[in-house]
Amino acid sequence: MRNNVKVYSNPDVGSLEVANHIASIIRDKQQKGEQAILGLATGRTPVDVYKELVNMHKNEGLSFKNVVTFNLDEYFPIHAEHELSYSTFMKINLFDHVDILPENTHIPQGNLSFSEIESFCNEYEQKIHQFGGLDFQLLGIGRTGHIGFNEPGSTTNCKTRLVTLNEITREDAINDFNGLANVPTQAITMGVHTIMKAKEIMLLAWTDRKAEIIKKVIDGEVNAEIPGTFLQNHPNVTFVLDHGSSSAL
Ligand code: F6R
Repeated sequence: MRNNVKVYSNPDVGSLEVANHIASIIRDKQQKGEQAILGLATGRTPVDVYKELVNMHKNEGLSFKNVVTFNLDEYFPIHAEHELSYSTFMKINLFDHVDILPENTHIPQGNLSFSEIESFCNEYEQKIHQFGGLDFQLLGIGRTGHIGFNEPGSTTNCKTRLVTLNEITREDAINDFNGLANVPTQAITMGVHTIMKAKEIMLLAWTDRKAEIIKKVIDGEVNAEIPGTFLQNHPNVTFVLDHGSSSAL
C-alpha cells in the first residue's frame, strides 16, 4: 500500500488522529504568531473530527482565535439559516462551540442572485489567496468521486463556481432532505484547482460504503471522470481510512 495511506481500526481512532494533526497546525502557527488557514468539509465524514476539536477546546484550552476557515461548498439555492445548509452544519458541529472569530469563517453563500455568483466566487478565490493560501484542506469523498462538489467531468483548472449536482450525490442526500424533490440541484464549490493548491490535504473515508470509490481514487488512472484521482498528483496528501473503506485496496 502507498505510504500516504493510513488505515485505522475504526473511524473514532482515525478522527482523533486527524483532529490532533489539525490542533498541531493551529498550535504551531500560534507559536509563530501566525494564522492557520484551514479548508473545511461538511457531511457525515468529518463530524467526529470536529467533535474532537471541540473537546480539545473545552478540555485542553485549544484556542481557535488564530484560525481562519474556508469551507469547500454550500448547496444552491439555500439560505444560510436553513437547518440543512452547510453554514448551519458548521455552526452546530464546530463554530458555536469554539472561540473562532465569526469574521474569520468563510462559507460559499447559497442565497445569491445568479448575477452575483461570478463575482462572489472570484472574491472567494481572492480571499484565500490574500490569506496566503490554505495551509490544510480536509476532504471527504462522494460516491461519484467528487471532492468538494467537483463532480465527474470537473477538470484540474476549475475554480470556485456554481455546479450542478450529480444524481447519485442528490440521492445520497435524500434522507437529510426528506425526499429527492427537496434536495437542491446545484451548489457553489471550491474548484479542483483551489483544493490542489492547499499545502496539505487529508481525505477521509469511513466504512465499506466508500471502499469501491476509494480503490478508484487511490489506485485508478488519474482522470476527470473521478475528480478524487487528481489528488494522486498532490505533493502532500494523506488518505485516512478505516478497515471498511480500505477493504478493496
Ligand atoms: C462536503 C463535501 C463533499 C463530501 C462528500 C462525502 O463539504 O464537499 O465532497 O465530503 O459528499 O459526504 P459524506 O461525508 O456525507 O459521506
